[in-house]
Amino acid sequence: MTEAALKATAFIQQQKPNFKPKLGLILGSGLGDIAKSLSDATVLPYSEIPGFTQSTVAGHNSALSLGDLHGIPTVCLQGRIHYYEGFNGDAVKTYIRTLKLLGVDILFITNAAGSLHQDNPPGSLMMITDHINFQGHNPLIGPNDTDFGPRFFGMEDAYDPELRGILESVSKDLDLHLAQGVYASVLGPMFETPAEIRAFRLLGADAVGMSTVPEVIVARHCGLRVITVSAITNLAAGMSKETLTHEGTLHHGEKIAHDMQRLIFGFIEAIR
Ligand code: HPA
Repeated sequence: MTEAALKATAFIQQQKPNFKPKLGLILGSGLGDIAKSLSDATVLPYSEIPGFTQSTVAGHNSALSLGDLHGIPTVCLQGRIHYYEGFNGDAVKTYIRTLKLLGVDILFITNAAGSLHQDNPPGSLMMITDHINFQGHNPLIGPNDTDFGPRFFGMEDAYDPELRGILESVSKDLDLHLAQGVYASVLGPMFETPAEIRAFRLLGADAVGMSTVPEVIVARHCGLRVITVSAITNLAAGMSKETLTHEGTLHHGEKIAHDMQRLIFGFIEAIR
């Protein structure tokens, strides 16, 4: 696995010599346009990067973009893979460890999620404070690669408390409502049953989605600082009369891309 990330890193550095990104940005469903704001951008389709796996999901572009975002050297992952696509943890390890090897220190993850609260409706944003992993899977299963991190490590501060504080004050300055809560990560690809959603709520979840947690696990293992925001695209199963569809989640995702962009740009100004 180290091998794959090393090869990908060498290739990317060849395409954009002397560029050392500080910030990594994972752009979820419908949020890929944020990468268009990079200046002096180099765009590399995943299909050209050795070891990178292309997403098979509509709304995920499968390209890596490198450039300056409001003065911070940034690498954007447009498109991610999910376990339901049939990949194993290696693909996630390669993405995230490549970011680490390129020099990234802070990883800003975005995703689309369903809300378990009527007062965090579609169109709102939620900063993730913690997660519950219902995927029944973990990308670190298998031999540990000590070049990246220890076999056992804590997840108490998986969502960096200092960065969360910064993002909270940025949202207040922007007068942008930013809910906070626990993200339940499920395997998918189907949406949940209403009974599952009631159970998740009892267990302490505030939003539900099919991504992010594998990325956070690999990122924390190799010491990246993580901050994550969910774009709430729908009320979770059984909470409204709407039938859940992927197209529906993309539609709402596009509507909130603008707020997500303001939040990310504000965050960048604050950490610069
Ligand atoms: N459930 C799971 N994943 C999702 C949802 C949902 O309701 N909305 C967007 N991604």
